[in-house]
Amino acid sequence: MNDALHSVVDRESAISWFLKTRERTAKIFDIITPASYYDQPIPLRHPVVFYEGHIPAFGVNTLLKRGLGQPGVDEKLERLFARGIDPENQSSSDAATVNSWPSRKTVQHYAAAADQAILEALESAEIERHGHPVLGRGQAVFTVIEHEEMHQETLAYMWHQLPFAKKIQEVDLQGNTEELVPELARVRVPAGRATLGAELDEVPFGWDNEFPRMVVEVPGFAIDRYNVTNQQYLEFVDAGGYLDPRWWGEGDWQWRVKVDLRYPSFWSQEGGEWFWRGMFTKYPLPLSWPVYVTQAEASAYARWNGKRLPTEAEFHRAAYGAPDGDERSHPWGEDPPDLTRGHFGFQGWDPMPVGSFPAGVSAWGIHDLVGNGWEWTSTLFSGFPGFAPMPSYPEYSVDFFDAKHYVVKGASPVTATGLVRRSLRNWFRPHYPYPYAGFRCVEDL
Ligand code: AVJ
Ligand code: FE
Repeated sequence: MNDALHSVVDRESAISWFLKTRERTAKIFDIITPASYYDQPIPLRHPVVFYEGHIPAFGVNTLLKRGLGQPGVDEKLERLFARGIDPENQSSSDAATVNSWPSRKTVQHYAAAADQAILEALESAEIERHGHPVLGRGQAVFTVIEHEEMHQETLAYMWHQLPFAKKIQEVDLQGNTEELVPELARVRVPAGRATLGAELDEVPFGWDNEFPRMVVEVPGFAIDRYNVTNQQYLEFVDAGGYLDPRWWGEGDWQWRVKVDLRYPSFWSQEGGEWFWRGMFTKYPLPLSWPVYVTQAEASAYARWNGKRLPTEAEFHRAAYGAPDGDERSHPWGEDPPDLTRGHFGFQGWDPMPVGSFPAGVSAWGIHDLVGNGWEWTSTLFSGFPGFAPMPSYPEYSVDFFDAKHYVVKGASPVTATGLVRRSLRNWFRPHYPYPYAGFRCVEDL
């Protein structure tokens, strides 16, 4: 479905992928009550209204204006909705200064006009031009649609922060809290080669930070077969791990003290019982789910255990390497991703017990490397040698090559299937508590 675009953009697949993506976004917006439209579920991010405008405005700015050199649909709105990601503390939240967002009617009217203009371009404009910086290999088209898919995940984790009463649960996707108690084992991954990123002609599309490929010789290590679960993490909480600076990096400890964090932010404690705050409901803490934590908390747990987080290269070795020295496209091999391979692609809003997707194990028998939550690495986000910003969206990565973001790999339950590829890299700040991200530990051999 989503991967139907090859080196030459097929108009029909592009149109259907675009429309499906727009539809899912509309469904995601329908989850929250109309009264939540100007809410700001995450204080450092823009209010809800921004995103309904940002997604179509990004399409216009990228494909129509930057790519095709056409005029926009509404210059004023396109400026207002141009950017809004990961603001620095206090400073850049334009949200704080723009106190009069447009009405929803205005935004939806704009979005409809933008969609129409983009559709017309997809139908008849020259959207792929050999040698053109923005339109070469159809870059702008992919940029626009994958950008929207990424924001679907942003919206999900924003909605997650809203009180249940502000959400309308249309489909009953009750989480599965069944207690598979996995065989808690570590797997030995011998020294070998890991290929991070890709060459331009190897993938139909990739973001700039995926190029060029970087080959790394990785020393042997042992890695957890499953993600660290809530059950395992509870031992750290119960052992007073949050109150002992020995386990925490210095900046991490200062942050922990400042926000007075005593357990993962997806958890709550009531009358001596632990709960997990889901998208639509609260669960008694599902012990078999992967714990979702910040990188700071993940590192503290690992250190408490005498272990550490994997590097990005080690994650690649564990996920895509094989005993025969081959490197696979996916942990399970060459077949394209489908919903049997992992907990991604909007099969549910909350996690699943670890080990629920045996059809997705890697060559080493490691579970859930793609899906059920992004996985923290100890690698600072930066460009591979030879990196160059992409013409369709030059700020996409470079703004975050600031030694303040860490690479996460894999996918979460609400990562679109179209984003599942080996070279995809995602990143977050180490203290950002909202995303669906967990971890596993490694040890040197
Ligand atoms: C790649 C997920 C970190 O949401 O901040 C969306 C994606 N960039 N609009 C983010 C993104 C611009 C980005 N992440
Ligand atoms: Fe964006």
